[in-house]
Amino acid sequence: MQVLTEINDDLARLTQDARNIAVITGAGFSAESGVPTFREAQTGLWERFSAQDLATTDAFYTAPALVWTWYRWRQSLIQQVEPNPGHTALADWQRWLAGRGGELSIATQNVDDLHERAGAQVLAHLHGSIFEHRCAECGVAAELPDPDYDGFQAPPEPEEPPLCADCGAHIRPGVVWFGEMLPMEAFEAAAAAIRKADLVIVAGTSGIVQPAASLPLLALERGTPLIEVNPEPTELSDAMDFCLRGPSGDLLPALAAAAGAR
Ligand code: APR
Repeated sequence: MQVLTEINDDLARLTQDARNIAVITGAGFSAESGVPTFREAQTGLWERFSAQDLATTDAFYTAPALVWTWYRWRQSLIQQVEPNPGHTALADWQRWLAGRGGELSIATQNVDDLHERAGAQVLAHLHGSIFEHRCAECGVAAELPDPDYDGFQAPPEPEEPPLCADCGAHIRPGVVWFGEMLPMEAFEAAAAAIRKADLVIVAGTSGIVQPAASLPLLALERGTPLIEVNPEPTELSDAMDFCLRGPSGDLLPALAAAAGAR
């Protein structure tokens, strides 16, 4: 395994030869856009809690207003920030490869829409979407107006989640909470993309949250080259061929350029 802070010839050749790339992204990929990752301390109403405390079914049933307001605040924050150069580099690389009969697929753990807003197609949102809402009991989808918070200021008071028009239960965000099953279709699509890939890139994830963290191991089993992009070592680093240590907002544009996509 090579640990690098910039692209070397071996890595450049690998990206130039790749025709079928599977990319997995995590919270760190959106960090440079201003979306806090799950390892960062919470602020305001939520400073006494970790993200893991808040992102659970138990927390929603125990403190629905606190959890609901946290997701509506994150939603408004996401709506007020922009995709970063990492997002746009992937979108360009995806378009460039498609124009040459190749493919770049994106499976993300992120519940934001920054890949799409950068112009990329996302194959799988493994942990759902913060823009979708449904009844916590009967599961009926709910259309809601956008939150009118200032995303950069935590709201002063928690607000109660709205109620389901069908059964009167609380509406919840359409994200996957800790301990909940992933949408199987998304997981299977991501696994299939990795099985047929000739290069796998894992960017901005700590590799802690299962089962998403097991996806790169499908590439390891097949001897498919693996690149990690992360300023820090992760649970997955030992499985990698190349660990690019630095922010994805700098290194993905460099990788796309090395491949000739820019
Ligand atoms: N570029 C690349 N990586 C970065 C950057 C950056 N600019 N900044 C931080 N990182 C890395 C961190 O070093 C860390 O390894 O991003 C990773 C973020 O880790 P987590 O917060 O654990 O995010 P993730 O791996 O996506 O797991 C969180 O679990 O809570 C659930 O559904 C939630 O999708 C979420 C998942």
